[in-house]
Amino acid sequence: MSTGKLSAQQVRDLREALMVWYDRNRRDLPWRRTGDPYAIWVSEIMLQQTRVAAVLEHYRSFMARFPTLDTLAATSEDEVLAHWSGLGYYRRARLLRKAAQFVVAECGGKLPGTAEKLRSLPGIGDYTAAAIASIGFGEPVAVVDGNVLRVMTRLQGLEGGPKAAASQVPALAQRLLDRKRPGDFNQAMMELGALICLPSQPQCTHCPVHEFCHTRGEHEVAPAKQMLSR
Ligand code: ADE
Repeated sequence: MSTGKLSAQQVRDLREALMVWYDRNRRDLPWRRTGDPYAIWVSEIMLQQTRVAAVLEHYRSFMARFPTLDTLAATSEDEVLAHWSGLGYYRRARLLRKAAQFVVAECGGKLPGTAEKLRSLPGIGDYTAAAIASIGFGEPVAVVDGNVLRVMTRLQGLEGGPKAAASQVPALAQRLLDRKRPGDFNQAMMELGALICLPSQPQCTHCPVHEFCHTRGEHEVAPAKQMLSR
């Protein structure tokens, strides 16, 4: 199958359809109610290896105990780890605290506002840097995670396996990005991957961008119960 190159008009229409869907269907998550980059950073670190439902249980208590970057930086590692309990992958908590201390010591206590600078902090890779920069600071950088890779691969009918997709998707995601609402766009893509464009039973009949999708129909199935449990 050849890939479906989208025209500039199709890109605009796709973007619009995705954002309208997101505005109507977005889950009300606590880190979507804040504009505080520190809070968004904490949520993105927790979400790296943990599902949304499990993060929800821990995010509020962690933020209540460490409401600011300064509080986190000034707390002992043992106490931070105690408050990470239940989330697992404790390395994330160690690096989060280390990065907070670095920001206090070297950046005047303010989290850097670009993906490029964020990437130099402990525990922040390409994906997390783009998420924090776009959601917390409005930088127009596209997030590419496993969900986005899957959505874009299907959308464009990319062939050649995961490696080929990984080399093409970042540019495609950047082209589709809504530069006026980069944080919302990125979360809309993640939301589409989490709720509709599922790995094994995608809900194509409910997809807001099905008319732009190259592989639509190949994956189409009747509504599944997964939607209810997410
Ligand atoms: N996974 C990673 N970041 C996320 C976010 N901001 N919203 C929902 N799921 C996510």
